[in-house]
Order: sequence, then structure tokens, then C-alpha cells
Amino acid sequence: MIKNYLYFFIYDNTESDLCKLESKYIFNQKEKNKLLLSDKKIEPSISAFIQKRMDILLQAEDYSTLIEKIKNEKICVDNFKVEYIVLDGDTTEYSKRLEKLKDIGYSIDGTPEYYKPAITYALCYYKGVWYFGTLIKNNLEWQKHKQKPFSYSNSININIAKALVNIAAQTNTKRKILDACCGVGTIMLEACFAGNTIEGCDINWKVCRQARTNLSHFNYTANVYRSDIKDIANLYDAAIIDLPYNIFSNPGDDTTQHIIESTTKIADRIIIVSITDIREIITNAGLIVSDYCTVKKSGKAKFARSIWLCEKKESDLGGSLSMELIDEKD
Ligand SMILES: C[S@@+](CC[C@H](N)C(=O)[O-])C[C@H]1O[C@@H](n2cnc3c(N)ncnc32)[C@H](O)[C@@H]1O
Repeated sequence: MIKNYLYFFIYDNTESDLCKLESKYIFNQKEKNKLLLSDKKIEPSISAFIQKRMDILLQAEDYSTLIEKIKNEKICVDNFKVEYIVLDGDTTEYSKRLEKLKDIGYSIDGTPEYYKPAITYALCYYKGVWYFGTLIKNNLEWQKHKQKPFSYSNSININIAKALVNIAAQTNTKRKILDACCGVGTIMLEACFAGNTIEGCDINWKVCRQARTNLSHFNYTANVYRSDIKDIANLYDAAIIDLPYNIFSNPGDDTTQHIIESTTKIADRIIIVSITDIREIITNAGLIVSDYCTVKKSGKAKFARSIWLCEKKESDLGGSLSMELIDEKD
């Protein structure tokens, strides 16, 4: 009987805060030491940072008790593999780890297969408990998006794009999301891959065309509106804004303010990516910053992206609700 899931994370130092922010909105808790125990079952490939998920089948404080439990299960399966995952606090030597893998191998009835296993089991020791379960790895299929027909050097990277989608959707694939400045659709591709409901908007007709081509290249269907964000009338549960910028010049506060204020009228939660401090503009738009992190670009010490999670002030939420009700009556 599966009770819990153990998630293993992978990221470099520049992405640590972003990964923690993402895990907070996927699991309602932040990963710690690249590990998280949860009762939520999440497909690892929705995130760039979830390396694998262990579906815990059995656990015991004592190793020999765990082996007894595995034997009692009378597992009968061909082409299986067993992996030992070394976690913080596990001091088991290499030779002992190999012995334990053999113990488990002999407790399962079937032929092992190292290279192309049909099922992978895992063993690990964490905070005084031995865990045995099946392992589901991130399939990395989303990396095919790196070969999209159109991309720009200043497009956001895939790891950030996936995290933004997860922060916006909070694992609710029905939530209606808008990519307010979609460019060539880097964020939209990740949302579609994970089965989220997303639409895109961009003022530039050329990038809109390229975003549509990118989406159809991978057989994804999503609307891309060629429009100034101020003219979008649909309403969304959440919006992502990757603000326009140029390495050599900033678009200016007016453009930033225009985009944020326009998006605030049509979305309840807004996740903004900027390369400058825009806190004042966010506040002036009637939003509260409920979470924040930065992501440095590896190798470029001075370049950092800021991620701002913004919510409407309660009084503004009331306002938009009554407006929606009036619209419905009309
Ligand atoms: C940093 S780029 C977004 C890049 C995108 N995330 C990608 O990966 O391709 C910002 C985009 O904002 C768009 N933009 C600028 N002003 C806009 C407005 N008022 N309404 C909608 N889009 C706008 C630009 O055309 C540009 O494509």
C-alpha cells in the first residue's frame, strides 16, 4: 500500500531559490537538501528540478525487518533493477550497499535487467528509516523543446519557464493561465507539455507567428493573440509576465507599468520576471508581492532575473468580483 512519495531534486547553486519557490507551490512545502517527502503524487517531468520520485511501498526502522517485509510481499516480476540511493546521513559503505542490493534482488522472484529495466526499485535510508519502493525518473522529454524552430538568445531558459508554469498552476491543470508577453512561446511550450491550460499574447506579430509555429511543431494547441496586453478582455486565474528587456537598454518604467497594470485587470495572480527592481511599480499597480526570488545566470555574475509572485490586495479582489457579476448580468 503506497502511503507516501519521496522526491529527489537536482539543481545548481544559481537555481536553488527558484527550485524552493517552485516546490512550495507544487507541494505546499519547500524541498530541503534536495529531498522532499509528500503525500502528493506529481509527475517528475513537469519540473526541471525533480529528478525522480520514489513511490514508497515498504518501510522499517530496522533493515532486516524491511527485507522480511519485502519477502512477505512475494514480488514476482521480470526485468527489474534495484538502485541504492545514498542520502544525507547514510554512512553505509559501498561494499555494504552492494550487499543490500543483492539481498533485495534475492527477495524478488524474477530476472534482473540492468540496462533496460521494465521496473526499477530503490532502497534508501533517511532519518532513521529504511525505505523500499519503485522509482519513477524524470523522462526529460521536455528537453526536445530546446530544438524548437524559433528561439531568441534572450528567451527565458526552460528550467525557469517550467518553474513559472508550476508556480502559476499549482498543479491545477484546469487553471486558466495567460503568458502575457509570450515571445516565441518558451513558457507556453512547457505549460502545454505538462497539460496546463494556457494562452499567449504578444504585441509583435512576428514573434506571435513564431510562437504558433513552435507550438504546432510539437503538436500543441493553444491560442496566441497578436495584441497589446491592454486589449485582452479574457479573464485568467493567473498570468506570467516575462517583461521585455534588452541587454543594452531597459524598456523603461512606462512600458513595465503599462504591461503590469493591464495584466492586473485580467488576472488574479501574476508572476513577473524582471531584470530590475520593479517593487514600486508592482505596488503602484495595486499588487502585493507574496513571494520573491532571484536566479543568477551561471557564468554571468552580474546578470540576474527576479521572479515576483504578486497577488491582488483584498479590496481589489472584491472589486473585480463585483465587476464580473455585473458582466454576467449584462
Ligand atoms: C522578454 S520577451 C518575452 C520572451 C518570451 N518569454 C520567450 O521566451 O520568447 C518580452 C516580450 O514582450 C512583448 N511585449 C512588449 N510590450 C508588450 C505589450 N504591451 N503587450 C504584449 N506584449 C508586449 C515583446 O514583443 C516581447 O516579445
